[in-house]
Amino acid sequence: IEKSLEEVFEEKIANDIRIEPKDWMPEQYRKTLVRQISQHAHSEIVGMLPEGNWITRAPSLKRKAILLSKVQDEAGHGLYLYSAAETLGTTRDQMIADLHSGKAKYSSIFNYPTLSWADIGAIGWLVDGAAIMNQVPLIRTSYGPYARAMVRVCKEESFHQRQGFEIMMTLCNGAPAQKQMAQEAFNRWWWPTLMMFGPKDSESPNTEQSMRWKIKRFTNDELRQRFVDMMVPQAEFLGLTVPDKDLKWNETKNGYDFGDVDWEEFWNVVKGNGPCNKDRLSARVKAHEEGAWVREAALAHAQKRAQREAQ
Ligand code: ACO
Repeated sequence: IEKSLEEVFEEKIANDIRIEPKDWMPEQYRKTLVRQISQHAHSEIVGMLPEGNWITRAPSLKRKAILLSKVQDEAGHGLYLYSAAETLGTTRDQMIADLHSGKAKYSSIFNYPTLSWADIGAIGWLVDGAAIMNQVPLIRTSYGPYARAMVRVCKEESFHQRQGFEIMMTLCNGAPAQKQMAQEAFNRWWWPTLMMFGPKDSESPNTEQSMRWKIKRFTNDELRQRFVDMMVPQAEFLGLTVPDKDLKWNETKNGYDFGDVDWEEFWNVVKGNGPCNKDRLSARVKAHEEGAWVREAALAHAQKRAQREAQ
């Protein structure tokens, strides 16, 4: 008997065979992927802003070169991800228009300000650490182009995390004022980083279906728990105090118990009312408008070349 398209799709998912752009897929699977991949792409691009803020003020030439290259990597990640989303039938112009109109989301974490140089260390260590925790499993996500994009993204993210940890180490081994600056940055970034993993599983409308389709390989709460378990010993190594009075080792579950995230703050930021949401969006819109001539010139050049080749 001939199998239906849906059966073929389900069989591939069950057998861990990747779904590719030209394969049949349920409309909802396609929509979920466009949503997640485009949000991911937007996060990479908006994520350049908080760190870009410190490129001109990095404390040494070496630090500046490293930060510059890290921020450029984020641009590259955004571009791979837009390309991966385009294979699902959407256009980059559409995705960017949705970001600029406020319709599409991007990670809540990038709506917080970077107040001191230690924040650059904390972002690399914590935020990129969380990104790795979330993205390494996505190397096994069921959609081929997304999974393949994640391989290189994750390699670069591990470099980013090491550079962040190294900034924190330097500060923590420095003068008391430097150590204090590191602790304050840690206090500011710890809770927003835990929010990156998304709402609790019980409040997450997309997790169940995305797990069934193997778009997500772990739930939000599973990844958040793994992250806390990984970071606490690193904080101890640095001599920093985790800003959570409820943090406690739990022998039975072989992991840490930790306090509840401020979910009201999370939703407030997601809805566009975080400390920097308006600044971030207006900076993106401005960059897009001011870059219009570059896109026009590149297009005109490509057209000329195509014409010449056709002759
Ligand atoms: N910031 C902003 N919005 C969020 C966040 C967050 N930290 N977490 C969840 N949301 C949104 C979801 O996008 C969803 O909204 P939508 O339905 O309008 O799209 C809603 O809150 C409910 O959340 P979930 O049902 O849990 O959504 P989902 O299954 O997509 O899980 C998650 C969210 C974990 C972020 C997932 O999309 C994911 O793994 N994405 C890929 C990684 C990524 O985007 N990382 C970006 C930051 S890392 C970096 O770029 C350096």
